[in-house]
Amino acid sequence: MPTTPLPAVLPGSGDNDYARYMRTGDLLSLQKGPGEWVHPDELLFQIVHQSTELWLKLTRSHLSRALAHLTADLPSAAELLLRRAAEALRLITEQLHILRSLPPAQFAIIRAALGNGSGFESPGWQLLRSATTELDIAFARLLSSLGITPVDLYRGQPSDPLYRLAEALVELDERIALWRTEHYTVATRIIGHGVLGTRHTPVDSLTKLIVHRRFPTLWDARTALTHASAHAVCPEPVQP
Ligand code: HEM
Repeated sequence: MPTTPLPAVLPGSGDNDYARYMRTGDLLSLQKGPGEWVHPDELLFQIVHQSTELWLKLTRSHLSRALAHLTADLPSAAELLLRRAAEALRLITEQLHILRSLPPAQFAIIRAALGNGSGFESPGWQLLRSATTELDIAFARLLSSLGITPVDLYRGQPSDPLYRLAEALVELDERIALWRTEHYTVATRIIGHGVLGTRHTPVDSLTKLIVHRRFPTLWDARTALTHASAHAVCPEPVQP
């Protein structure tokens, strides 16, 4: 039951401490208002992008902390943070779904207001790329300092903290691929195939990014293990 509001005690602007702590005044002024819209669905478009950037800010922070733990040889602490980062990526993938309700003709109006702005310039995605590269290098260094390869690791126990850490990295990689799959699917549902993006990139070239791996050696290890098994050879290419 709401009671009489208590006075604000925190520093900052805002009528109450919720507004001051959450900085709701700043946050809610970051979207274009009705007077500026070229189309009302701009609010949806901006909020999905802006909230994605916030989750990626959190992801970046978790990946930096995970890197510090990894470097300090604390694999379990690193794993926990990586799992949470993967969960943040799951959330931003899920929220792409709502964009399917953007009618193509209406989106064409919004698109004209985007200038040359493109998802390639997303600071969150740029930082995710650099953070995963740093993690990949640090993990390779750690394995090499122990004198083991990823294949040796995967021949070991799944409960081993290092094995679990490798799996958390793979999960992160998978989450990136799943976001990209969903993004490509949603983008083409709205703007179609065979067209260029605002950065003049062919939309269908996004499919190449889906198979790109941030931690390639961990995927190569799986391939090596499969090749080492008796039924590894695939003589016929699979037809679409
Ligand atoms: C209406 C929905 C969307 C459409 C039609 C769309 C379309 C596109 C297109 C055509 C590209 C290729 C690059 C270009 O030429 O601009 C692209 C790239 C990209 N977009 Fe979107 N996009 C949508 C929503 C989003 C959202 C919500 C995000 C979240 C930040 C996002 C982030 C990105 C990123 C990071 C890339 C770079 C490719 C990658 O790293 O996978 N996009 N998008």
